[in-house]
Amino acid sequence: MRIFGSTGPTLTRKRIVLGVTGSIAAYKAVSLLRALVRDGAIVQVVMTQSAMKFVTPLTFEVLSGHPVSTEVFEAHQEMKHLSLPEQADAIVIAPATANCIAKAALGMGDDLLSTMLLTSQCPLIVAPAMDGGMWTHPSVIEHVGTLRARGAIVLDPEEGPLASGRIGHGRLAEETTILEAIQTALAPRRDWQGQRILVSAGPTQEPIDPVRFISNRSSGKMGYAIAEAAQARGAQVVLVTGPTAVPIPRGVEVVSVDTAEEMTKAMSTRLAWSTAVIMAAAVADFRPMHPVSQKIKKQGRSEQTLHLERTTDILASLSAQRTTQLMVGFAAETNDLIAHAQDKLTAKGLDLIVANDVTTEGAGFGSDQNAATLIDRQGGLTELPLMPKRALADAILNRAHELLQSRQSHQAPTPIAGGR
Ligand code: PMT
Repeated sequence: MRIFGSTGPTLTRKRIVLGVTGSIAAYKAVSLLRALVRDGAIVQVVMTQSAMKFVTPLTFEVLSGHPVSTEVFEAHQEMKHLSLPEQADAIVIAPATANCIAKAALGMGDDLLSTMLLTSQCPLIVAPAMDGGMWTHPSVIEHVGTLRARGAIVLDPEEGPLASGRIGHGRLAEETTILEAIQTALAPRRDWQGQRILVSAGPTQEPIDPVRFISNRSSGKMGYAIAEAAQARGAQVVLVTGPTAVPIPRGVEVVSVDTAEEMTKAMSTRLAWSTAVIMAAAVADFRPMHPVSQKIKKQGRSEQTLHLERTTDILASLSAQRTTQLMVGFAAETNDLIAHAQDKLTAKGLDLIVANDVTTEGAGFGSDQNAATLIDRQGGLTELPLMPKRALADAILNRAHELLQSRQSHQAPTPIAGGR
């Protein structure tokens, strides 16, 4: 039997950080905390300075059985902004003020709760509460959109009488709604179950002679993150990879290649098997025309000319052969990001392109983080700010899954110009 308001056994021993911010609805977080503890969760409460004006930390401390954290820098304490999110299975902010949502969207870290969000990799559930029409302010709408695009679950506040006496949208969502959202976030997502994804990653190496080659700075981290995320979400994944030092994700079939030609072959032979192709590899556009079988000697030469020829455009060639597969490409750009990415989307016959500016500090080649704009065939743009490559992989898969669903609910794909 399911007790009303109970999530059942799913929260047993789950570690939840409950963030409480300065809203009159802060008192409702007390009841939410009791429900989480009743359902078996281990809850650590983090309060902002303004939240403490509404409810005392002692209330949460007694009910959670754990000290309440309020400061980034507390004497003789571990670094809470790192340790709390590292140990958490989910972070829940209830109630979340417009200020807290804005800081989370903009990546500001001026208190423990906001700083924690910058280091966290676990699911985030946000239950807003605000008065005076703030929920429909363009700035709040934009920040909520940013958080949702990044994969956070932001619940809609409910309509009804507010603390000000006005009627409007802004009441904290019902406790059962928040509990169900937490349960959903903690249940393993299997939305790619039944799909077969062909992912490419890493650089290619184009030989000049037996000891030299032309290559690029790709580490493979982006493509491997996509393969790992897709596998975790239930897909069967084949990862075609150039030479990298990244550990192979569990449950993923790996095909190792060196050259663009080998990658072309590996991808083409598996196209018919796949339902989606995601090409994150940095394939060489040119290769030496005449690689030689013996090491080129420098003696007696003051210069050396290399003649290069074009490699196959793998994505364009796969797009031309595809039947119903969803085609996702990347665009690595250093200028005019959106215009160049849109050109590639059309020229290569793609459904979605992940445009990344590889000159962005901390993003692109080799980095653990990346930022991108997703562009679809209809011109829809989704901006994804700097985040861990694994989180970006999930955000790409979210959009790709939506497109796949709409593709599969319609019939055959319509032909499009270029590359087909
Ligand atoms: O590997 P990391 O260190 O994690 O770095 C990630 C990344 C920067 C490599 C990744 O985010 C990325 O941008 N990958 C694509 C790199 C690239 O080659 O972009 P491009 O704009 O030159 O190519 C456009 C698309 O065509 C890409 O999907 C590419 O895989 C594909 N292509 C390119 C050339 C070619 N001969 N055949 C192709 O299919």
